[in-house]
Amino acid sequence: MMERNEKAAIIRMFHVFKRFGKKNALVDITLDIFKNEFVFICGPSGAGKSTLLKLLYLGETLSEGQILIEGVNISRIQRKKIPLLRREFGIVFQDFKLIPTKTVFENVALVLEAKGKKSSVTQKKVKSVLRIVGIEKKLNAFPPTLSGGEQQRVAVARAVVGEPKIILADEPTGSLDIVSADVIIDLLDKFHSRGATVIMATHNESLPNKINGRVIHLREGHLETLTAGRQD
Ligand SMILES: Nc1ncnc2c1ncn2[C@@H]1O[C@H](COP(=O)(O)OP(=O)(O)O)[C@@H](O)[C@H]1O
Ligand SMILES: [Mg+2]
Repeated sequence: MMERNEKAAIIRMFHVFKRFGKKNALVDITLDIFKNEFVFICGPSGAGKSTLLKLLYLGETLSEGQILIEGVNISRIQRKKIPLLRREFGIVFQDFKLIPTKTVFENVALVLEAKGKKSSVTQKKVKSVLRIVGIEKKLNAFPPTLSGGEQQRVAVARAVVGEPKIILADEPTGSLDIVSADVIIDLLDKFHSRGATVIMATHNESLPNKINGRVIHLREGHLETLTAGRQD
C-alpha cells in the first residue's frame, strides 16, 4: 500500500478562482489529483463542476491561481501549443457530441487521423476500441440511429482511442437510463484499470458507490470535503 504523497500528482490546482463577471463559479480550489485515480466531482447543478473540468483542458481560462498538469503551468502554454495539451485528455459529454453525418467508425477514427496516424493503424485501433466498448457491430451506423447508451459508448471510444492520460467525463450518464449508465461507468472504470486517470463530474451523489474512487464535493464553487476513498 502506498501513501498518497508518494504518488505523483498528474494535476495540481493551487488557489484557483474562476469568475464570470461578478459570479464566482470556483472559489479558492486547491486540489491534487494523482496518476491513475478515479475521482468523482459531485455537487448540485451550478456548483462549478463543468467549469472545473473546462479549466483543465483550457476550455475556459482561470481568473486567479495556478493549474499544473504534469508539472506544466497551463496558463503559460502558448496558444499554438494548446492542441497538444488537449491531446492529454479524452473528454466525454452528457450530450455525446458525435458528428451525426459521420459513421460510428468515422467519428472515432477522426481522433487518430488528426494525429496523422496511418490508415492501417487507425483501422485496427478503432475496431479494437469499438470492440472493447461493445459496439463493433454498429461501426457503419450513423449516431442518430443509435440509442443514447450506444451513442455514449461511441463517445467513450472516441475519448479513449488516442490513449489519453486523463479522461474527463462531464455528467456522462446524465441522459441515460440506469442500465446504460452502469455500462458507461463500468467502461470508464475499465480504462481506469488500464492506466488512465479519470475525472467524472456528476450531480448524482449515488454514482460513486459503484466504483472505488475518491469523491470530491463542490458547492457554490467551494470544495466541501475530501473523502479518502482510495484503497490501493
Ligand atoms: N460561460 C459562462 N458565463 C457565465 N456564467 C457561467 C458560465 N459558465 C458557467 N457559469 C456559471 O457558473 C456557475 C457554475 O456553472 P457550472 O460549472 O456549469 O456548474 P455545474 O456544472 O456544476 O452545473 C453557474 O452559476 C453558472 O451559471
Ligand atoms: Mg455541468
